[in-house]
Amino acid sequence: MPLNIIVGAQWGDEGKGRVVDLLAGEADIVARYSGGDNAGHTVTVGEDIFKLHLLPSGIVHPHIVGLLGNGMVINPATLLEEIEQVREAGVSVNPDRVKISSAAHLITPGHRALDGARERARGDAKIGTTGRGIGPAYTSKVNRSGLRTELMLVDGALSQALADHLKEVNYQLEVVYREEPLDDQKIIRDFQGYAEQLRPYLSETGAYAEKALAEGKMILAEGAQGTLLDLDHGTYPYVTSSTPTAPGALVGLGLGIGSADRVIGVVKAFQTRVGEGPFPTELEGDLATRLRGTGQNQWDEFGTTTGRPRRVGWLDIVLLRYAIRVNGITEIALTKLDILSGFDQLKLCTAYQIGEEIHQRLPMGPGNLGGMRAIYEELPGWEEDLTSTRQWADFPEAARGYVKALESLLGVPVTIISVGPERSQVIQR
Ligand code: GDP
Ligand code: IMO
Ligand code: MG
Repeated sequence: MPLNIIVGAQWGDEGKGRVVDLLAGEADIVARYSGGDNAGHTVTVGEDIFKLHLLPSGIVHPHIVGLLGNGMVINPATLLEEIEQVREAGVSVNPDRVKISSAAHLITPGHRALDGARERARGDAKIGTTGRGIGPAYTSKVNRSGLRTELMLVDGALSQALADHLKEVNYQLEVVYREEPLDDQKIIRDFQGYAEQLRPYLSETGAYAEKALAEGKMILAEGAQGTLLDLDHGTYPYVTSSTPTAPGALVGLGLGIGSADRVIGVVKAFQTRVGEGPFPTELEGDLATRLRGTGQNQWDEFGTTTGRPRRVGWLDIVLLRYAIRVNGITEIALTKLDILSGFDQLKLCTAYQIGEEIHQRLPMGPGNLGGMRAIYEELPGWEEDLTSTRQWADFPEAARGYVKALESLLGVPVTIISVGPERSQVIQR
């Protein structure tokens, strides 16, 4: 009864959607367990490009049932838009194949407004959030004043809860942040419409998942964001407000500790981050431009959700060692190896220097990476284009050397190597 967890090992955008799509061929259920529409997961099948924010990426496969777990925060307006978009692209969405946890939380325009107001108030110390209301929605949840999707099942309950919530939001907007209040009556009316449409999708998805596992079905848990954006384990405070790491899959789906089997860490062949926060291996200048691309290709390093250029740098082995620990990663899916073609030389950060001391592992959590100096190992690059390669033996020696160096530095096998965004551009070992 396997539950396989797919988790981002860096700062998000590792190519999780692409890897989920690949492994969904063998699965029955794909389940999102944390975050909300701050995520942007890209799946490329032939000429079709799907950009998913809330629906699990596996939904692109007709045989998959998609779950939106209790650990998520869901904006019903953007979910309904996304459902329309994927339907137009020929994907069927109905309550038999998409199930939303009745214990997931709702994101309201109030949460979005507070996200913006808090970022503006932080000024130069801003987090660089996606502006989707994620932090304020999880704040409501932790504060025990959140709005669970199950409110949509009880006549009148949602409107009352929204009225109470918006009263508090408007007080904060006006008194704390000196901003305009929101039109609560309009929001309540809009939400009545969303409730009407989404009610048939709600259920206890944990019980559904448990039954599926007992019947021998395979569930893929689709991580959003990444390890270094985890509220506890990331580069706090430059993090998101959820638990994207693998243990979050159990809490966020309502399954027990014994359920998990493989934990597949998705690792991009270099490091990227969007938003503020420390980044010890960050590059600027020509090398950065080459890694980032110009934005002409859909896979160039510009945010899927916000379009912001991503910061880029060399792969950071010290942070990956940490990611392997906090997630219990059993294997690695390496993406975007094709992007490293054409560099004379590649670098891997294998240690940090602080003062006179060298550290192969983080001496403390990644909350304070500011004083760390990256120490690099240099590896030979390769010229050859990898995008048509389908066999490990056909890789140039230097490309095999890069992958083998990762395996030996990390002690975890690289079982999947992606050399392009399209479903078929992959080598499985
Ligand atoms: P996610 O958030 O982890 O699902 O990743 P995103 O979809 O935000 O960003 C990954 C980007 O890289 C997308 O544009 C993918 O289509 C693309 N991509 C994924 N794997 C590969 C790969 O191996 N090579 C190239 N060139 N692009 C890839
Ligand atoms: P996927 O699932 C990359 C980043 C934001 C910001 C920080 C907090 O596509 O990998 P938030 O809106 O969550 O409060 O923003 O987290 N962030 C992501 N970066 N990929 C993502 O998702 C992200 N989701 C949030 O840029 O730095
Ligand atoms: Mg993304």
